[in-house]
Amino acid sequence: MIPLSLLAVVLVFGIAGAADGLSGYQISCGATSEKVVGDVTWVPDGRFVSVGNVSDMRSPGVLPVLSSLRYFPDTSARKYCYVVPAERKRKYLVRTTYFYGGFDGGSAPPVFDQIIEGTRWSEVDTAGDYARGLATYYEAVVLATEKEVSVCLARNAATKSSPFISALEVSPLEDSVYNSTDFESYALSTIARHSFGHDGSAAVSYPGDRFNRFWEAHSDGMPVVESQASVSQAAFWNKPPEDVFRRGVTTAGGRGESLELQWPPAPLPAASYYLALYFQDNRAPGPLSWRVFDVAVNGETFFAGLNVSTAGSMLYGDKWPLSGRTKITLTPAPGSPVGPVINAAELMMVVPLGGRTHPRDVIGMQALARGFDNPPADWAGDPCLPQGNSWTGVTCTQEPLARVVSLNLTNFKVGGSISDGIANLTAISSIWLVGNNLTGPIPDMSLLHHLVSLHLENNRLTGQIPPSLGSMPRLRELFVQNNALQGAIPISFKNKTGFMFQYAPGNNLS
Ligand SMILES: *[C@@H]1O[C@H](CO)[C@@H](O)[C@H](O)[C@H]1NC(C)=O
Ligand SMILES: *[C@@H]1O[C@H](CO)[C@@H](O)[C@H](O)[C@H]1NC(C)=O
Ligand SMILES: *[C@@H]1O[C@H](CO)[C@@H](O)[C@H](O)[C@H]1NC(C)=O
Ligand SMILES: *[C@@H]1O[C@H](CO)[C@@H](O)[C@H](O)[C@H]1NC(C)=O
Ligand SMILES: *[C@@H]1O[C@H](CO)[C@@H](O)[C@H](O)[C@H]1NC(C)=O
Ligand SMILES: *[C@@H]1O[C@H](CO)[C@@H](O)[C@H](O)[C@H]1NC(C)=O
Ligand SMILES: *[C@@H]1O[C@H](CO)[C@@H](O)[C@H](O)[C@H]1NC(C)=O
Repeated sequence: MIPLSLLAVVLVFGIAGAADGLSGYQISCGATSEKVVGDVTWVPDGRFVSVGNVSDMRSPGVLPVLSSLRYFPDTSARKYCYVVPAERKRKYLVRTTYFYGGFDGGSAPPVFDQIIEGTRWSEVDTAGDYARGLATYYEAVVLATEKEVSVCLARNAATKSSPFISALEVSPLEDSVYNSTDFESYALSTIARHSFGHDGSAAVSYPGDRFNRFWEAHSDGMPVVESQASVSQAAFWNKPPEDVFRRGVTTAGGRGESLELQWPPAPLPAASYYLALYFQDNRAPGPLSWRVFDVAVNGETFFAGLNVSTAGSMLYGDKWPLSGRTKITLTPAPGSPVGPVINAAELMMVVPLGGRTHPRDVIGMQALARGFDNPPADWAGDPCLPQGNSWTGVTCTQEPLARVVSLNLTNFKVGGSISDGIANLTAISSIWLVGNNLTGPIPDMSLLHHLVSLHLENNRLTGQIPPSLGSMPRLRELFVQNNALQGAIPISFKNKTGFMFQYAPGNNLS
């Protein structure tokens, strides 16, 4: 939905490694063992995903992390999810990396969607980068509402072959980072993050950036200044790496001359953006080492009379409307002896979250999924969202919180048992688990006050019929034939009117 073709790319043939101690998860998709690149250890993805097939890339010279991938040939699944442990209510930087490498024998990579925490995040289209021998990465900042972060791929109308993924990184952020955004309602999707005045290929990343962000080099031919003093990262809410302040760009020299940056380099889709700009007076600290200038974005004042010292400053706008080309203009104060300077900038699209599923339903569905031996392939991530990518057999209403209203896994060959956690699905009206291979007892469902239709026929369920089913006011249909139930039919049933109860053949009930 959100085109992010502006995102920069990782060079396939050489990205610097970083020192150990990076927190969170660096996951190499399709890998069968750990891969150490530089000082970063990438772990195999088996414990985070239960679907898909793996492929190894044989091309020599490809970065180890990009040399394996996981792809998803099952066309019936509504999504393919990675679920990564997280701390509840913490913000995470999530990066997905894609390098097609012709793994399926085709000549062009497939186009598909990526989903983060139940919100459609963007389309993944890596064709342009792939043609130039590059991998593509996407990055977002999102809040973990519960104790995990889910990142899913899904087919869309343009998908012609199997979606795939090469790497997934999930890094915790400190509270103050990007804290002007309300992450209960929005995610941020990175468009550009640049370190000005740095040259060529060397991006600043971990360990320079302890949150594993990439600050790509950008100079655009403008005069470069070198800093004579270091800043304290701690002074900035967003904790930019000290390295990005080492250089900056300025004007060619004329007194009063404005600095104009065409940044980010590519035109933007119309949307709201989070924009952060970082500055430092590059001279040696001293009583006169400060400079004052105005900052404008597309001719509109972003900040007037900014006084930048050697300690550095940051400006941000948390929901700035932008579209097309963007121009950042720094205009020195009248009579200023020195020109403006800028060191780094970040631009992220503000993405409204596509709703939330009632936590109780998430807990209930997760419990059911755990109880089944072989739930459908898409039973991971959010059970209801995004709309159109709910779990197979699950129907939800959407507003204001998504609720599970029906479950139908008829003839899915599902084994295992029906979890007690089903009692959390308090908005459900219809449960059909017909013709599976389910064993164990029928759990208590007396809290499911909206339940009208319960079909459990043709399984291998044992135990008694819970008497509480007889006192559920809305229950109209109870089908349990062809199981191995026993005991007495609860007395409460005999009196119910307008109630269809089928229990024979196949049980031992009296
Ligand atoms: C993917 O793996 C499944 C089982 O793990 C296998 O049945 C299927 O044939 C594989 N598909 C492809 C395209 O290799
Ligand atoms: C962001 O974090 C900083 C530093 O902890 C704090 O001073 C500021 O009030 C926070 N802003 C918001 C909107 O929470
Ligand atoms: C800018 O800040 C410095 C201290 O860092 C101060 O000495 C100077 O007077 C300020 N300049 C203006 C124009 O406010
Ligand atoms: C459940 O699915 C089966 C098979 O697709 C169908 O026959 C049945 O009508 C469905 N039940 C409901 C309540 O929709
Ligand atoms: C979910 O169901 C289980 C088992 O009935 C129960 O222990 C738990 O408290 C429920 N959780 C919620 C949030 O309702
Ligand atoms: C049902 O599950 C049992 C093990 O619990 C297994 O032996 C049997 O093959 C399964 N039947 C079907 C039809 O899947
Ligand atoms: C059946 O219903 C009648 C009237 O509604 C009630 O008096 C009686 O106690 C009920 N019997 C049972 C076994 O629930």
